Amino acid sequence: MDAMTRVEQTLNAAVARGEAASCPPRLARAVRYAVFPGGARIRPRLALAVARACGDDAPRLSEAGAAAVELMHCASLVHDDLPCFDDAETRRGKPSVHKAFDERLAVLTGDALIVLAFQVLAQAAPAAPDRLPALVAIVGASAGLPSGISAGQAWECEPAVSLSDYHREKTGALFAAATMAGAAAAGFPHAGWRELGETLGEAYQVADDLRDVAGKAEDLGKPVGRDAALGRPSAAAELGVAGAMARLDGLVRQAIGAIPECPGRDDLRDLILLETKKFLPKGLAQSAA
Ligand code: IPE
Ligand code: IPE
Ligand code: MG
Ligand code: MG
Repeated sequence: MDAMTRVEQTLNAAVARGEAASCPPRLARAVRYAVFPGGARIRPRLALAVARACGDDAPRLSEAGAAAVELMHCASLVHDDLPCFDDAETRRGKPSVHKAFDERLAVLTGDALIVLAFQVLAQAAPAAPDRLPALVAIVGASAGLPSGISAGQAWECEPAVSLSDYHREKTGALFAAATMAGAAAAGFPHAGWRELGETLGEAYQVADDLRDVAGKAEDLGKPVGRDAALGRPSAAAELGVAGAMARLDGLVRQAIGAIPECPGRDDLRDLILLETKKFLPKGLAQSAA
């Protein structure tokens, strides 16, 4: 089974568990709406790619780790789009959750998805119970304090922000959870996998900042120009387009150099090189080629 199918099936099983008769129907619908159809699923595919490079000897646990990271990501998008954050009306080419449902349901959907991430891990634990504590710690750190998504988004509420800290926390932390969860699920020491994920995530956010200035809403499925409109710290604004592209290039090189020794290192490097080529929006990718 390919990685995307494994991710979709695990996410579907997780979401389906919430669709019991006892669940308020609109909340159940909003949760499914927030997860399906997905975007590129880059984080869970990264988690599975790392697990595979490390032998993937407990595939159910790798799938749970990958799905937990994606559920956390979906939660972050629902909350990020709320009027009190980025006030974005579209996401993944359709109305964002608070537009399709309402704000209260969007807050609750994000909350439920965060909790669901841990439920998915707990449910898969029998596959290799001794690996569960590391997975819980990894996924928890990616979302919380002092340097997970909550911290990253909270920099928007401070008067002064380091762009790199902001990017590493709001985006790098979850990519680091993907690489570390992949390794931990396969029974490998995970600390050495942090730099790869964190650096890839920072690169991804630099590219997203470029997409915000140079992409098209119809290609991205979400509004563009939000960073400037909201005065968000952005690589494009701080470094200029050319400077941000150079920064992206440097981060991708750093990420490639940070891939730890493991049995499937060469295949993993090839996959990461292929994926990072897709980071830039079309127009800029042509000018960089
Ligand atoms: C969007 O993430 C939020 C950022 C961290 C830039 P993605 O670009 O991975 O969104 P989806 O999951 O593919 O829709
Ligand atoms: C993404 O930052 C950060 C999180 C969702 C945690 P952005 O605000 O730049 O992401 P988009 O552009 O809305 O996808
Ligand atoms: Mg946003
Ligand atoms: Mg953005």
